[in-house]
Amino acid sequence: MKDLRDYLKYLASRGRLLNIYNDVDPELEITAFTDRANRESVYESKTLMFSHVRGSSIPVVTNLFGSLSTLNELFSNSYANELLQNLPSIKAQAGKLSVIRGSKMLIDSKPKVIESQLGKYEQLKSLDELPIAKCWPGDAGKFITFPLVITDSPMDGSTNVGVYRMQVFDNMTTGMHWQAQKGGAIHAKEAKELGKNINVSVVIGSDPHNMVSAVTPLPTGLNEFAFSGIVRGSRTMLMKNGKYPYVPANSEIIINGHVDPTEKRLEGPFGDHTGYYSIQEEYPVFHVDAIYAKKEPIYAASVVGFPWHEDAVIGQFIFDFLKPVIKATNESIVDVYLPPEGIFTNMCFVSMKKRFPGEAKKVMFSVLGLGQLSYTKIIAVFDDDIDIRNLRKVAWALATRVEPQRDVQIITNATADSLDHTTNYSAFGSKLLIDATKKTREEGYSRDWPDTISLPKALTDEVEKKWKSLKG
Ligand SMILES: Cc1cc2nc3c(=O)[nH]c(=O)nc-3n(C[C@H](O)[C@H](O)[C@H](O)COP(=O)(O)O)c2cc1C
Repeated sequence: MKDLRDYLKYLASRGRLLNIYNDVDPELEITAFTDRANRESVYESKTLMFSHVRGSSIPVVTNLFGSLSTLNELFSNSYANELLQNLPSIKAQAGKLSVIRGSKMLIDSKPKVIESQLGKYEQLKSLDELPIAKCWPGDAGKFITFPLVITDSPMDGSTNVGVYRMQVFDNMTTGMHWQAQKGGAIHAKEAKELGKNINVSVVIGSDPHNMVSAVTPLPTGLNEFAFSGIVRGSRTMLMKNGKYPYVPANSEIIINGHVDPTEKRLEGPFGDHTGYYSIQEEYPVFHVDAIYAKKEPIYAASVVGFPWHEDAVIGQFIFDFLKPVIKATNESIVDVYLPPEGIFTNMCFVSMKKRFPGEAKKVMFSVLGLGQLSYTKIIAVFDDDIDIRNLRKVAWALATRVEPQRDVQIITNATADSLDHTTNYSAFGSKLLIDATKKTREEGYSRDWPDTISLPKALTDEVEKKWKSLKG
């Protein structure tokens, strides 16, 4: 898919695009429509295209990734998926590794850079010309909610792309809500050490592979545009952008600006994906230097709030996509699940085949040490007979396999998600570790763990057949 327009055509051809021709208010009404779309179905809601947004001639598209089927179609047949699925066997069979090393796709993942095309773009005077929405009644103002924020490391030149919301302070200034552990914040910290400002390119609207890759928690230093090339199956086309980081050649709207890493300003509140308004906090300030828009541009936005919304679908998809990486380093793990009700970062369930005493704890520590999973507040580990995606089974196992004084631990003074309003300090709190696996004698259980109740399968199959022929 070469750009956002192509993607919208694709969605329309599958009946996943809803055109809204009514006159719509960017204040709250875009949220109300999108929230309604998300209530239709948890993982299969439609993308909304608002063509008449009050105060702007630019149409707005929301809920671009509200369909899990679409994300699967876009990514799961990709070479990256094949590579990830094969990780365990790659480790075992050296032969396979050479096949993958020899792949053209990996060699070609480096983005292709072309000369600037900004001459073909129209320059806008200020942010006032964009249809930026105020999402929830208690929001501090208007927020850009799906910006691809691109920075280059001032130390080694590596590129990072992340989606960080931007609160509009005035028509040439916004907030930059990159959390301390995120790539953009790390680049800004490097700039601070060098006593420099950092130039930032912000892109609103690109092809779906670029947009989803921007949200993917890749290790800092691993270029999201190289990753999008791998999952797309063709190299990402970037264009030069003067002194600012390169931007996708298919960008709808480009905002060039800079952040002075010593400058901070109160950001929020914002109705977040936790279902609460985020607490006001000091965040960096983004100064707009220039805004460019393609001919008849499309403005992309995301609406989050009480789960579920689009972010839950994206999060679920990305996590399942990257799960082989977690499993490859922890052979005993069977499944890992971040329930959207747990706001992703606040709750993580793991199922495993325990092989030795204490292995559940080993697994918990290792998951908590992995990238953005370090934000996890509550982690619970289960045996592999528990389907951790079934919350009824999870509740049953927690009730019947946990003896609190032995199986529950609290780790204090640990990292936390800055969106977690329950901690006394921002981004610093504690973790709850729950070992809900069946305990063995070596693990201090002094009795014989009882068997779970079940009937022989041959019998239940037989009854199932008879059951269908019963008449009332
Ligand atoms: C709609 C949406 C909004 C997001 N807003 C923020 C945000 O304001 N701040 C933040 O740090 N992460 C936010 N994220 C999550 C980051 O984009 C995500 O953690 C990404 O992996 C960050 O990239 P990085 O690891 O390269 O920094 C948001 C994600 C989505 C889907």
